[in-house]
Amino acid sequence: MANLRIALVYFSATNVTHTYAQVIRDGLVDRGCAVQLFNVTAYASRQTPLRLDGFDGVVFGFPVFSDFAPSVINDWLPKLEGMGKKCALFLTYGGRTTGYAHFHTRLLLEQAGCQVLFSAEFLGRHSFNVGGWRVLPARPNAQDFAVAQEYATLVAERFAKEAPVAAEQTGNNSPALAKSNPWYGRMQFVPGL
Ligand SMILES: Cc1cc2nc3c(=O)[nH]c(=O)nc-3n(C[C@H](O)[C@H](O)[C@H](O)COP(=O)(O)O)c2cc1C
Repeated sequence: MANLRIALVYFSATNVTHTYAQVIRDGLVDRGCAVQLFNVTAYASRQTPLRLDGFDGVVFGFPVFSDFAPSVINDWLPKLEGMGKKCALFLTYGGRTTGYAHFHTRLLLEQAGCQVLFSAEFLGRHSFNVGGWRVLPARPNAQDFAVAQEYATLVAERFAKEAPVAAEQTGNNSPALAKSNPWYGRMQFVPGL
C-alpha cells in the first residue's frame, strides 16, 4: 500500500471540503502515500491544465451546490485529461441532499477519462442560508473525521489493488469499467438533524 503518489484535487468555498481534504491527506500520508493537494477553487487555478501523469491515483473532493458539484467545476472537468487514472470521489453537503452530484460528477470524470472506483459523502455545516435557519452548524466533527480516515484507508487499499484501465478503455460505456466496478461505496449517511 505504501509509495502511492496521489493527487487530491478539491474545491472549497467555505472551508468544509478543504478541512476534509486535509484529514484525508493526513490519513493517506499515515498509510505511506505521497499526497499533493490541488485546490481548484480560485478561477486562476483552473486556467492551466492539471497534469496527472506523475500520479498513481486521484482523489476529487467537491461540495454539493444545489444538487450538483459547483457549476464552475462541472465546466472545468470536461477539460481534464484523466489518462485512465484510478480515481475516488467525495462530496461534502449540508445535510439536505447530495441530489444528482454523485452520478453527474462520476459521469463527467469518466467522460474525461478517469476510472472512478468509488464515491463517498461527508456532512458539513450548511453554508447557504438566506432564511436565518441553521443546519448542522457544528459539522464536521470528530465522528465525521473518523469516517474520513476510513475513506483514506479505502483509497489507499483500492488504489494499490485495482488494475489500472488503459486510457482508451475509459469512458461512460466502457466494458472495462463495467467489469472493474462495484462502484458507489457509500461511506455514511448521518443526517444528525
Ligand atoms: C450555493 C450553495 C448551494 C448548496 N446546495 C446544497 C444542496 O443542494 N444540498 C446540501 O445538502 N447542501 C447544500 N449546500 C451546502 C454545502 O454543500 C455545504 O455547506 C458544503 O459542505 C460546503 O463546502 P465548502 O465549504 O467546501 O464549499 C449548498 C451551499 C451553497 C453555498
